[in-house]
Amino acid sequence: MEQLTQLLPQIGDKMKTVLARTGNIIAYTTENGRFVDKFEEQASWWTNGFWPAYLLDLYTLTKDPIFLDKAKLAIEKLDPVLSDSEGIHHDVGFMWYLSAGKHYQMTKDPASRERVLTAAKFLASRYDLDCNFIIAWNSKEKESWSIIDTMMNLPLLWFATEETGYSRYAKIARAHGDKTLENFIRPDGSVEHIVVYDPQTGAKIDSIGGQGYEKGSSWSRGQSWAVHGFAELYRSTGEQRHLDAAKRVAHYFLANAAQTDYLPLLDFRAPATPVFYDTTAGAIAASGMLAIASFVLPYEKALYLNGARQLLEALRTKAYNPSPDVDYLLDKGSEAYGSSTHKGRQHISIIYGDYYFLEALTRLRDLTQK
Ligand code: GLY
Repeated sequence: MEQLTQLLPQIGDKMKTVLARTGNIIAYTTENGRFVDKFEEQASWWTNGFWPAYLLDLYTLTKDPIFLDKAKLAIEKLDPVLSDSEGIHHDVGFMWYLSAGKHYQMTKDPASRERVLTAAKFLASRYDLDCNFIIAWNSKEKESWSIIDTMMNLPLLWFATEETGYSRYAKIARAHGDKTLENFIRPDGSVEHIVVYDPQTGAKIDSIGGQGYEKGSSWSRGQSWAVHGFAELYRSTGEQRHLDAAKRVAHYFLANAAQTDYLPLLDFRAPATPVFYDTTAGAIAASGMLAIASFVLPYEKALYLNGARQLLEALRTKAYNPSPDVDYLLDKGSEAYGSSTHKGRQHISIIYGDYYFLEALTRLRDLTQK
């Protein structure tokens, strides 16, 4: 067994100890090594589904029912948020597909089926019929803004089509994916974070730096959402153009991460100082690359498998904390560069970094130990 996949049992044991001291919170980041409850501060915060989703994956890993029980409690806690359509946004896939969707697939719980289908109906209602994209945020000024992150919410729509037989959800997912492919990927394989469309014609009229350094720069988590998002789109459509897009954005990610020994910078085109990393981007991109490795022809597989290994190895050696005395797995995650429209902190632990690190290690084990 390679050193990386040996982390899996270690993570399972560590998280059992962590969970024994963690109340019924919804974890986001940590302070002094202990999870901070994001639910109390902002119930509709976009990351609030990662905690139950992470617990469900830990249940699959360890078979310890405590993880399943705590995941169910966290999913139930989110119920009032799902009925508040003013408070929620395009990230309902992150919030309910990864949590309630996974829970339904594992347990067939009808309440979780209802949750995930409610979230899918809400996401479908955000589709702009003239401009062919899913509206990201809830303000009149941002009505014609689209963001790369939305790619990660499309699996919710594919799930709804598979579960109900109605094709309309999948049609929206495909149309949004194709519009993103056309307008977000630059000629060199880097991606925009935010694209502004003309609200009448749907033509691209501007781009915005968002969580990256500035307009035209290269926010690494946005790039990793594109790697993972296009790979998952291909899983659903089987269309070659979606796999080709995933490969292009993955090549760009790897070429840039290689410059800093595979620990990705927060923005690949930021000034030389200050040096901000983002380990969440490395974990998300690694997981997306492992999906690509599972789709491509055998002669191409090593490229994506080894790329993912390089990223995961950098995380293991430079950011992973095995100690059960701290709640997180990875440090050096970053919310945003903070110099443009978005504020954010750098070099903290963030729950989705840990979630995708576990997902990637699990995918690596499944790909290499068949
Ligand atoms: N979806 C927002 C972020 O990646 O920070």
